[in-house]
Amino acid sequence: MYLTKEEEKMLEGEYGEATRKAMKLLVKLGDIYGAEKMVEVSSAQASGVSYKSIGDPGLEFLEGFAQEGARVIVPTFLNPAGMDLENWKKFDFPEEFAEKQARIINAFKRMRVTISATCTPYYASALPRMNEHLAWAESSAVSFANSVIGALTNREGGPSALAAAITGRTPEYGLHLEENRKPTIVVEVEAEEFEFGLLGNLVGKMVKNKIPYFKGIKKATTDDLKYLGAAMAASGAVALYYVEGITPKASEQETTGLEKTTITTEDLEKRKEELTTADEKPDLIAFGCPHLSIAEVKWISDFLKNRKMKTKLWLFTSTAAKAIADRMGYTENIERAGGSIITDTCMVVAPIEQMGFGTVAVNSGKAAHYLPGFCKQKVIIDSMENLLEKWSE
Ligand code: F3S
Repeated sequence: MYLTKEEEKMLEGEYGEATRKAMKLLVKLGDIYGAEKMVEVSSAQASGVSYKSIGDPGLEFLEGFAQEGARVIVPTFLNPAGMDLENWKKFDFPEEFAEKQARIINAFKRMRVTISATCTPYYASALPRMNEHLAWAESSAVSFANSVIGALTNREGGPSALAAAITGRTPEYGLHLEENRKPTIVVEVEAEEFEFGLLGNLVGKMVKNKIPYFKGIKKATTDDLKYLGAAMAASGAVALYYVEGITPKASEQETTGLEKTTITTEDLEKRKEELTTADEKPDLIAFGCPHLSIAEVKWISDFLKNRKMKTKLWLFTSTAAKAIADRMGYTENIERAGGSIITDTCMVVAPIEQMGFGTVAVNSGKAAHYLPGFCKQKVIIDSMENLLEKWSE
């Protein structure tokens, strides 16, 4: 693999041990995937933040790496942690968990990673532009960056995203190369009314790691695309998709002769039934996978005016959106109705199975995928509106 003089210096340890290790990892990755050279990245996003996901080995690795002098040299943002970093006591997060989580956050801080703790960095901290190379790790954010923005990133693992942040480089393979960004399957959506999270969950399961090109979707908000991509990345391994007439570069793609599949209303109903594993009252209604936009928080706040929740409602978002929600009175409205806004974490990476929950209702196709296995929860999946209508009065 070709390395520039600067990259060779990194590999030889001229910039310290942590940079040497980071470059070594990237070269190895490049060799495995047949990369010819490195590309410079304009931002990185580190995953593997929740203590629930990485445990003591991850915590010790991060503390050791920070101690060794690892420092990021490009803007680097952080995926959600396992708790609300400021208000964890208020929401009864376990004390021991909180102590370990705080140490993880401190290690990232020492490395100069921005503690944004959100999976929607494009709303809250970093908005890349088209054709920029990135090293992002959160699968839903990767999908959003590639598909909705038209930036270029592979789905990095926690260590490779951190290595890219420290060196400012990533090996040029996979989705960094135009020839690997072509659609490989056409998905014709015949259903007229549907939840994008549910559609994404079904399509991800069907297409696995292919690159779908959607036809038949007449309109989609940015939040709709957020749910679609997140769910496809979870139930499949989709890191890039196109929606005809909606996402950038879709019009440049050639789709004649591609394999084709069709999604009907019945297919979506069937998938909803498969994902729904409970019909009792949920212990928790959880929205915000991926993190809610301020527009969604406002919608929920308006919906709940003069209503009272009949079960617990937790809304997950970034600290940036929460600050606006506070200022606009949305937080107050939501709390008056019995709901809460929680930042920095989510229903999947928080240790909710240790916090007395057994059944969670969501609108997210990604959360519905992970909650049974990773969080030992029974799941109800429906639209935000249906769930709020049913469980408030
Ligand atoms: Fe984000 Fe958690 Fe979902 S990190 S995409 S809210 S699983």
